Amino acid sequence: MRIIPFGLLCMVAFALNGAASADASKTDDITEASFKCLTELAPVGDFFVDNLDGDIEATIKVARSPTGGVYPTGSVVQLVPAEAMVKRAPGFNPATRDWEFFELAVSDEGTSINTRGFAQTVNRFGGNCFACHIQARPEWDLICGKDHGCDPIPLTPVMIKAIQKTDPRCAPVELSEEEMAALKALASAMPPAES
Ligand code: HEC
Repeated sequence: MRIIPFGLLCMVAFALNGAASADASKTDDITEASFKCLTELAPVGDFFVDNLDGDIEATIKVARSPTGGVYPTGSVVQLVPAEAMVKRAPGFNPATRDWEFFELAVSDEGTSINTRGFAQTVNRFGGNCFACHIQARPEWDLICGKDHGCDPIPLTPVMIKAIQKTDPRCAPVELSEEEMAALKALASAMPPAES
């Protein structure tokens, strides 16, 4: 086994620590630049995750856990391009378990933030994010998934896939016929999204 000099270890620890605290400010300063093309994030089940502080592995670990867990600071979770949850530092907002909710406007020019906040944030259909997400059983840290106890949303898995694949911030990809039909059904069932 190679022996690493103690001084070198200290330097590495210092550098890692410096990097972590420099990154931590990204979660303190969330702007439209914090969000990007949905399908470039890491897929976990039906949704996508990211981590603004760079520790994507820690976020994926909780997202994949079969028993739940607490998402680390900086975690971004998204099911659709226009809605996001971001985990703030511990204690930032105990009522929402430190999740901040975002309603985004996305176009081929990028992202802008329509609404952001904690227990009061509503989506474009007037639905309160927190009121639904708090229904998830405690071990799931407000993540609804398919069977964590939240009231369902009126989107089929194919509709979700089609919405994800038509994020205007991403390079265009082809839709299956089933996905095209799902988007059509969605357009006729939903009021047009404001932009
Ligand atoms: C009517 C209840 C309801 C409202 C309102 C709602 N959500 Fe959700 N949300 C859900 C359900 C249920 C899922 C899981 C859907 C699925 O996977 O099929 C979900 C999924 C998500 C996910 C993916 C992770 C997860 O929990 O499964 C995010 C992120 C999310 N919603 C954010 C938001 C944000 C942000 C808002 C407000 C701007 C919002 N939601 C409003 C019920 C709701």
